Amino acid sequence: MEKIANLKDVKPGGSLTFNYKGEKAILVRTKGGKLVAYLTVCPHEGGNIEWDEQLNKMLCECHLSLFNVEDGSVYRHSSLFELNKSLTKIELKVDENQDVYAL
Ligand code: FES
Repeated sequence: MEKIANLKDVKPGGSLTFNYKGEKAILVRTKGGKLVAYLTVCPHEGGNIEWDEQLNKMLCECHLSLFNVEDGSVYRHSSLFELNKSLTKIELKVDENQDVYAL
């Protein structure tokens, strides 16, 4: 279990990147206050995944596919290919000090 942040470090709508077992990952606090984390590797061809606060979606910079921030499922993919795989989710735990851990 690895501490990645304290809740006060991520305001609703905010995000931060962290290292998860040697891979780049992103922690997002949704506008509703829910915490989620994913590897930043797109399940299509490995493009970089970013949090797009304005769209309220996770965005692949490579082919501009969008993923739902709540569960990492595909929201919209390019008309050029099928994409049914979700982002790789990382389980989180928040302790009584509001420290956030990746499990
Ligand atoms: S690599 Fe992400 S949509 Fe293609």
